[in-house]
Amino acid sequence: MSKPMSLPPDLARRLVAAAKKNCRKAYAPFSRFRVGAAALTSGGRIFSGCNIENCSLGLTVCAERVAVFAAVAAGCRKISAVAVFADTPEPVLPCGACLQVLAEFGTDPVILLANGTTTERLRLSDLLPCRFRPSF
Ligand code: THU
Repeated sequence: MSKPMSLPPDLARRLVAAAKKNCRKAYAPFSRFRVGAAALTSGGRIFSGCNIENCSLGLTVCAERVAVFAAVAAGCRKISAVAVFADTPEPVLPCGACLQVLAEFGTDPVILLANGTTTERLRLSDLLPCRFRPSF
C-alpha cells in the first residue's frame, strides 16, 4: 500500500454520496450495470458522472471518465479523489482506461470504492503502479 491518504472523512462521505446519487442517472440499457462516480478537485469542487452506454457498444464511457471529464471541461484539471459506486456485493474497481485518464489529471488521487455497505480506500498508485505518465 502506498502513502497514507489525507482525505477528511466528511469529504469522503460527501464524495461517496454524490457517486451513489448519480448512479441513478446511469444509461445502461445494454449491460444493466449501473455505476456512479464523483470526482473531487483540488479546489474542493465535486463533479458527478455515470456510465453512458451506446448501441455501438465500444462507444460506452465509464462513470469515472464522465466525472473526470466534467471536471476538466469546467476548468478543473487537478483531481484529488474519485468515488465509484455500484450496487454490487463487492465494490467495483475502475477499468484500466479510467485509471490512465485519472493519471493525467491527478498526482496520485485517492480512489474510494463503495457499494452502500462498505467503502474501500486505495490510491491510483496501488491500482496502476506502472502507468504511462504525462512527463514521458
Ligand atoms: N463501468 C463503469 O462505468 N465503471 C467501472 O468502473 C466499470 C464498468 C461500466 C461500463 C459499462 O457501461 C458497464 O459498467 C459494464 O461494463
